[in-house]
Order: sequence, then C-alpha cells, then structure tokens
Amino acid sequence: MIYFDNGATTFPKPLSVRKAINEAMSDYGANPGRSGHKMSVKSSEIMYSCRDNAAKLFGSENPENIIFTLNCTTALNTVIKGILKQGDHAVISSLEHNAVVRPLETLKKNKIEYSVAECVPYDDEQTIENFRKQFKSNTKLVICTHASNVFGIKLPIERIGALCRLNGIFFCVDAAQSAGTADINLSDSCIDFLCTAGHKGLYGPMGTGLLIINCETTPDSLIQGGTGSDSANLNQPEILPDKYESGTPNLPGIAGLNAGIKFVLNKKTDRIYNSELGLARMLYKRLEKAENVILYTKMPEKSHSVPVISFNIKNTESETVAKILNDSYNIAVRAGLHCAPLAHKSFGTQDTGTVRAVVSAFTTKNDVVYFANAVNRISKNNKQKKTI
Ligand code: ALA
Repeated sequence: MIYFDNGATTFPKPLSVRKAINEAMSDYGANPGRSGHKMSVKSSEIMYSCRDNAAKLFGSENPENIIFTLNCTTALNTVIKGILKQGDHAVISSLEHNAVVRPLETLKKNKIEYSVAECVPYDDEQTIENFRKQFKSNTKLVICTHASNVFGIKLPIERIGALCRLNGIFFCVDAAQSAGTADINLSDSCIDFLCTAGHKGLYGPMGTGLLIINCETTPDSLIQGGTGSDSANLNQPEILPDKYESGTPNLPGIAGLNAGIKFVLNKKTDRIYNSELGLARMLYKRLEKAENVILYTKMPEKSHSVPVISFNIKNTESETVAKILNDSYNIAVRAGLHCAPLAHKSFGTQDTGTVRAVVSAFTTKNDVVYFANAVNRISKNNKQKKTI
C-alpha cells in the first residue's frame, strides 16, 4: 500500500524497531523492576535506556521525569485530571484534539471550566494575544497542541509558554503530531508538561506514549498499584517515574520505542523535518494545481507548519475520496474529523471533514507523484459525472 496515514500512526516502522520488539519477546522479556535475575535486569536496563534517549531527544534534565504511558491521550489525561481541582480554570487552543477537549468536558461536573483561545494561523502575535485574553484569576493550566493533527498548523509554544510562566500558569504541550519532526527542547523552554505519542514521529509501536515532567509540581496519579518499589508502603510512591507507572509495563513496546527514538536521534529531527517538509510542499503544489481540489492552509513552511495536508474534492465526501483512494489506488489516508472537531470548526470543515495526507521518513517522491495523480484523476472523474 502507498501509505499516507502517518498522522494516525507511522508505517512502516524502522527495521531496528521491529528487531528490538522481537528481541524483547524472544530473548529477555521478563518483568522489569520486579526481580533481581538477569532477564529482569536486562528489561529494566532497556526501560532506562529508553528514558535516557527520550531525555536526550527532548532536552530533559532527568531521565526519571520521563513517564511511560499507553499513548498521548493517557499522558494528557494525567496532566489535566491530576492538576486541575474544583474551581480551577484552563485555557486551550482552538485546534485541540478530543484527547484534551473530552477530559475537560468531563471535569465540568467538578466545577472545572475551560475557555478556548482562537489560533490565528500564521499570526503568532494575534494567537498569543488571544491566549492572554482568556486568562482569569483562577486559570491554572494552559494546554496547547504543538501542531494540529488535521491542518499541520504549528503554534508558537515557546511564546505561549513564556506568557504562562509570567502569569504563574502551568503549561502543557500536546506534541503528538510534532515529536520527532519538529524540535522541542525542554531545557530552555517554559513547558511544564510534555505529552506525546510513541507511535507517530517517534516510530515506536502503538500502545506507547510519554509524559515528560519539566517542573517541581507533579500531577496526582490517575491510577495506583504495584510499582516494584517500596512495596511495604500501602501508599502510592511519590518518586518519579514510579508515581505514574503502576502495573506491569509494555516492555516490548518500550523496547521498540527506544529503537524508534534512536532512529530519530541518528537521523536528526531537523533532517527528518526538512525532508518531510519538502515532500509536503511538493504534494501541496500538485494538489493546488489540480482542478476541484480545496486546500485549507497556505503552502507548508518552516516556521508555521508540520508536514500534514488536509484537502477536499469539491462535491465529494471526504470519506468517499478516501474509499476511492483505498479501493482503486491502494492508497491509505484518513478522512472525516480526525477526532478533532474543534480544529475542523476553526477551518469551517466540521460538516464535511477533510482528507488528510501525512508523509513520514519513509515516504518517497514517487509516492507523492502517485498520490497527486490519483487525486487529480478522482477529481476529474467526479467532475465528468456531475456534468453528464
Ligand atoms: N490522533 C490520531 C490522528 O490524528 C489518531 O489520526
């Protein structure tokens, strides 16, 4: 298949990732941190190596502040539900995913409210001003996506973080769509909590995610249980990462994520980004020329975009386009609302959804040409059908 559904999860995964998972399953996969035998120790070492590599990639000072989660959604839920208390207020951007919106909607019953700051694409000043305008005396947390999973618009997180710091507000970034592609350095940022998926731009398997804590305050833990440490204590340990890592972890997944992060570290984020941006621009140029194709953003460019393109074909449902791409051209995309109805509302596509194409480190120029030609053909055929 010609795979352009990298926004949902990257495919293929590097060979090193597949090998690392296989090794964990066949060579040493004992329960980490629970026993003193060689296999368990090796499992613990792999977990530590993954924390260490994640700390390197994101400029985190302490590998123990790297928490393994099931996915980005679990990491975001931990921050949102672990920080906000009755009477608190949060601010989010207008491009957030349901992973942020739904937990906040759920918290309304606990008298926790939130406001939405409109992101103005390509106008950072206005976007920042819109965040500032939403701050209230009880605003405790700002949650902001680094880049929209639907439209690829990047938000000025460094400046929003600085504004939060100035106002004594915690700042949480959802980097599901940017980690591994866009640079994030926690050491010189005002980001307090970084949440990300392990299976997108970090090339790990599904079922992996990270919460990176970059401040003294730690959210309450959502779950409590065995950590393999301090077992005589009936209370949940406060030390990191144990506070959040109750229960047996996904060792094969983490071994794979470790290899995925190493893949990104070796290739280097800016090289991955530049190559993917080049492909996204090439795709955009071709779609722009195609008759009846509607694009929703400007040409992707360095300061304001990650390589994600959303489009529609006039008078054709986004799901229909995805189905034709699948059935007739063997191309994989995701269509519809991408679990981000708020972002679609901002772009006026809440009723239609969009077709989303996302490239990865494995996408080739030939893939892009094939994809653009397929879209061109679908749009021409549909026009002919309409005029008959
Ligand atoms: N959040 C993922 C997406 O954007 C699954 O498709």
